[in-house]
Formats: sequence, C-alpha cells, structure tokens
Amino acid sequence: MIFHFIRQSLRNPNAVGAVLPSGGGLARAMANAALPKGHPPQNVLEVGPGTGPVTQELHSRLQPGDHVEAVELNGEFCNVLRARYPDLLLHEKSILDYEPPRPVDCIVSGLPLANFPAELVEAIYKHFFQILRPGGHLVMFQYIGLRHAVRAMAGRESRIRMDRILKLEQSLDPLIIQRIRVPWNVPPAMVTVRRRPDDPALPMR
Ligand SMILES: C[S@@+](CC[C@H](N)C(=O)[O-])C[C@H]1O[C@@H](n2cnc3c(N)ncnc32)[C@H](O)[C@@H]1O
Repeated sequence: MIFHFIRQSLRNPNAVGAVLPSGGGLARAMANAALPKGHPPQNVLEVGPGTGPVTQELHSRLQPGDHVEAVELNGEFCNVLRARYPDLLLHEKSILDYEPPRPVDCIVSGLPLANFPAELVEAIYKHFFQILRPGGHLVMFQYIGLRHAVRAMAGRESRIRMDRILKLEQSLDPLIIQRIRVPWNVPPAMVTVRRRPDDPALPMR
C-alpha cells in the first residue's frame, strides 16, 4: 500500500498532496472525531481515502445503523480500496461530481486543500456545506504550519493563492467545535471539526 501511495504521489503530487499515507495516530484521531464512543447512527462520507488508513479506523468504530461510503478520484487508490474493503460503497470520481442521495451527518476529508487552486478550495468547501445536514460535522486535517511555510517560500502567484485559502479558512474558523493536535505525526498535524450551522448562517452561499 505504501508503494502504491508513493507511486501515485510522484505521478499526481498536487492531487495526492502527501508522500506517505496518514500515520495510525492521525487516522485514529480523525476516526474518533467522526465516530466517538456511544455516537448515534451516522451517515459518514469519507472524501479522498487514498489507500484507506482512515477508512480502516472508521470501520473499526461502526455501530448498528451507521453507514460509511467514500469518494476517491484516483483509480489506482480505488483498486486498492476495493481489494481491502470489498463491502465499501466507493465512488470513483471527484467529490465535486458526487451528490449523495441523502444529507450527510459527517464528512471526513483527507483532501490536500493547500495544494489546490483557491477557486477549487472554495468550490469544495461550498459543496461540503451543501451536502452536510444542518448541524453535521466536517472533519479535516492539516499539517501544522504548512500553509504559512508554503506562503513564505512561494512566489507571488502562489502567495496570492495561499492568501485566498487562508482568508477563506479564517472565515470558517467560528464553525470549529474541536481541534485535536497530533504532534507525533510526521509532519505534525491538526484535526479540526467544523459544525455546519443551520441555514440562516450557512457560510459561502
Ligand atoms: C493526502 S491524500 C490522503 C489519503 C488518506 N486519507 C490518508 O490520510 O492517507 C489525498 C487524497 O485525496 C484524493 N483526492 C484529491 N482530489 C480529490 C477530489 N477532487 N475528489 C476526491 N478525492 C480526491 C487523492 O487522490 C488522495 O487519495
């Protein structure tokens, strides 16, 4: 699996956005945030599962009434996921082309947004908040300091791109209900949980 991941990260560095799959601690932190002990039945959508480290942790926390499906753009990762999780409902497409049949309680995203054009990041957040039910949770991670490091080292165009992403994410900060540091991950990471507000305050209309 690591071999598949490294090969795809070399072929598609921007879409894959990491050299290695998430470590166990980060995958567990994401899954615990999505499916904490004693959770009510949840309809969970995993976006960008890669080779499935978070998928595995989600599956080990499933309770009766839970439903998990996944959307992954990369065909080779989809083949790995089909072999590892034959029962997983997997959609091989971009998240922007996926409309879930019913509102989602929780989105768990591994998308490397810091690598994407700002317009794409805006479109993805907007889509996330449209498919989440009001009160639903958006669980994501980012590498601590990466966005600011990229900004500091980047040329003018990338700086403008990163400034737009940082500004957008700052505007979504009030929605954060939980932050979990995973300092032992390489590189150190932060899991954030945002709560989709009820309609009147829905961000990014
Ligand atoms: C940083 S990797 C994360 C993989 C895995 N969640 C992990 O933690 O190891 C990002 C993943 O997002 C997928 N991806 C990128 N753009 C996507 C899109 N528009 N829709 C769905 N998946 C996408 C990539 O193919 C890759 O598998």
